[in-house]
Amino acid sequence: MQIAIDGPAGAGKSTIARMLARELGYVYIDTGAMYRALTWKAIKNNIELNNSQALYELARETKIQFTNPSGDQRVICDGEDVTEAIRSPLINASVSLVAAKAEVRKVMVAKQQQMAKFESVVMDGRDIGEQVLPDADYKFFITASLPERARRRIAELQSQGYEVKPAEVEKEIQARDQMDCERSVGALKTLPDSIVIDTSLLNTEQLLGKMLDIIGE
Ligand code: C5P
Repeated sequence: MQIAIDGPAGAGKSTIARMLARELGYVYIDTGAMYRALTWKAIKNNIELNNSQALYELARETKIQFTNPSGDQRVICDGEDVTEAIRSPLINASVSLVAAKAEVRKVMVAKQQQMAKFESVVMDGRDIGEQVLPDADYKFFITASLPERARRRIAELQSQGYEVKPAEVEKEIQARDQMDCERSVGALKTLPDSIVIDTSLLNTEQLLGKMLDIIGE
């Protein structure tokens, strides 16, 4: 069984994907965390974020793993736990630049498909339904209004101890969405078979219930 969840930044995809995977006993794969980990490593290695060839080579040699798939999942990049580090404002502002590179996406999509080969998965990202799991059993497109997505992202950053300027967070999300929707490969879009859910007025329990109803669980 494969469940794809796509949608813009801050729509609550990871939260709901994690809950859904736990409920169904599937493995949760956070593909955004993979692009974030690669961006973290590129910055750490002083790689110019416009250098497609260097980023391609970095993507090929970087090992990204998820531990504890059904509990408090950790993101491990070449053996180092980067779970918190990849959620910083710097990574937020840089990741879409890295993810826009066609060469990088080719490597990452192959890694993601490999992860879903032998297990039932809930996978979230931007191009899951179209590129990574085109034969997924369910393709959800989870969205929410921009102010609501900004509000959720601000709460997340504050809970991690970051001081944030609300207007800047909204601008950053908007800029990232624009890059994610307008790039030439792996762009975020709804598909003819997308199940679109606006979560602006739903809490996570209501959303989970709705998704389980659709899946028939
Ligand atoms: O989902 P999250 O907001 O953590 O993703 C971070 C960034 O990674 C996105 O803004 C997007 O640029 C990139 N991404 C992507 N394709 C995916 C998942 C994430 O390009 N499948």
